[in-house]
Amino acid sequence: MDRRNFLTAVGGLSALTAMNSMEKADALEYAMSAELDTRVAKPPLCSTMGREPFKGSRKSGQYFHMGHDPRLPKMSDKPTLVEFFEKRFAPANHLLQSGALALKSGLSEKVILACLLHDIGGTALLRSDHGYWGAQLLEPYVDEEVSWAIRYHQALRYFADPDMGYEYPKAYIRYFGEDFSPEPYIHEEAEYAKNHKWYKTARQICINDVYAFDPNAVVSLDMFYGIIERNFRQPEEGLGYDDSPSAHMWRTIIFPNNFL
Ligand SMILES: [Fe+2]
Ligand SMILES: [Fe+2]
Repeated sequence: MDRRNFLTAVGGLSALTAMNSMEKADALEYAMSAELDTRVAKPPLCSTMGREPFKGSRKSGQYFHMGHDPRLPKMSDKPTLVEFFEKRFAPANHLLQSGALALKSGLSEKVILACLLHDIGGTALLRSDHGYWGAQLLEPYVDEEVSWAIRYHQALRYFADPDMGYEYPKAYIRYFGEDFSPEPYIHEEAEYAKNHKWYKTARQICINDVYAFDPNAVVSLDMFYGIIERNFRQPEEGLGYDDSPSAHMWRTIIFPNNFL
C-alpha cells in the first residue's frame, strides 16, 4: 500500500516509530484491510480470549512471556471439558443456547453434545475452517458420529434443506452479502455429507445453531453435566496432557500466548 496512506492511517511517523515490530505488523494489517471493501476479521488464534491486549513496546532486557498468561483464568494441572467451558470458552452463550435448544427438542444425547460443542474450534482456536478444527480437537474423546457431524456442519450451514426445515441463515446474508458463494471445497464437502449415513446429525447442528439468540437468556452448563459425563471421555491426565493426537491443540488453548 501507499506509504503516505499508511502513515496517515497509523497516526503519523512519530506514532509509527513508537511501535514495536508486532504492533507495526498489526497496524499494517489494519490499514490494508481498511482499504478493502470487505472487513478483514482478525483470527482469534493466540488471542487474549476477549481480554484487553497488553499495550506498549517491549522494554530492553524484558523476556518474552511463557507459561500462564496472567490475564486469563488459571487452569488446573488436569483440566476437564467443563473447566475449558468456564475458563476459556466463557461466556459461550452461542454454544449453550444451541445445546439447550437441542435438549428441548428431545434429540439424542449424542446430538445434544454435538450441538453444545459444535463451534469450540472457532470459539477457542481458529475461526477459519472452525468445523474441522473443532472435530480434530474432539476426535479422541467423543463418538465418531459427533466429531463427524461437527466437521461437516460447517459446509452444510451454507445450503438449505427445506425437507428438514433448514433455511440458509439470514446472518450469512448480513455477514457475506446476497451473492456470496463459498469456496468449491465447501460445495464438495456439503455434497459428500448429504449422502452420508450421519447427515441428519450434522444437519441437526445447523438447525439448532442459534444465531438469533436471546442475549438475556441465561443457560447454565449444569444442565449438560450428565450428558458430558456419559458422552465425553475425559482423560485422567487432563485435556492437553494425555498425549492424544489433539493434546497439543488443547495446550494451545491453555497457553494461547506462549512465545513458542
Ligand atoms: Fe459453526
Ligand atoms: Fe454455531
